[in-house]
Amino acid sequence: MRGLFTLQTLSTQKIQEIIDLALAFKGGKSSKKYPGKKMATLFFENSTRTQYSFQTAMINLGISVIGFNASASSVNKGETLYDTVRTFESLGMDGVVIRHSKDDYYKELENIKMPIFNGGDGAANHPTQSLLDLMTIYEEYGHFAGLKVCMIGDISHSRVAHGDLEIMKRLGMEVYISGPSEFNDGCAPYLTMDEAIEKCDVIMLLRVQFERHQEKMKMTVSEYHKLYGLTEERVNKMKKNAIIMHPAPINRGVEIADSVAECEKSRIYKQMTNGVFVRMAVISMVLDGNL
Ligand code: CP
Repeated sequence: MRGLFTLQTLSTQKIQEIIDLALAFKGGKSSKKYPGKKMATLFFENSTRTQYSFQTAMINLGISVIGFNASASSVNKGETLYDTVRTFESLGMDGVVIRHSKDDYYKELENIKMPIFNGGDGAANHPTQSLLDLMTIYEEYGHFAGLKVCMIGDISHSRVAHGDLEIMKRLGMEVYISGPSEFNDGCAPYLTMDEAIEKCDVIMLLRVQFERHQEKMKMTVSEYHKLYGLTEERVNKMKKNAIIMHPAPINRGVEIADSVAECEKSRIYKQMTNGVFVRMAVISMVLDGNL
């Protein structure tokens, strides 16, 4: 299969190559174009950043973009994921981006020959989110080894947490988790909020994913904010050069105070900007046969 499904199968050297190319696109040092190519974005779950930054990346690379509205498509007539993707391949697409609620959905697509870019599968992977997170950290610090990051919030439902955790550890970062015990799936050592704030170089907040919860959260959102939200008081206790990240969408007033979302330490909107360049790099490397 061609494309990008998970970072687990990529070497750290290849991940650094992607980040370097993304930085080259950002710095105007690469202006590669792919005229005549066509790609589609097949989103079976809601998305703003991933869907539209992939589309922006395609436009920047001179690739024609085909949108897809799952609710107005033949998916509603029972067409399977495989047959939907096979259809886009038959239409002559040079690649598709897919987001789907099922973990590892791409394992059903082994017969597809066109490149597939995973825009998120269930609670498992979100490789371009992980790459843009890494690019943002690399731009800040110039290295990964030894940096301490704490992911705080709804860990158990987060494909970002699970994807980032594996690659960050491989890159030599110390990774911790924090937040309510009901969301702690034991994927990394636990820190209290106070410990995380005092110790870490990167505070990565995660959205409470109410839409994925089988059971109602045990506390109210205001209790959550008080116990685990990043407030101005907590920001003032962070290390001098520490940064705040969040994959977004953000729940202002829940995991992050409104006044903190765009404060001097926040890199949340920079992450979104970097997402375009990371997606340009990934598309370019796959189309060139380098990924
Ligand atoms: N971060 C992220 O994946 O955002 P969207 O769900 O809006 O794509």
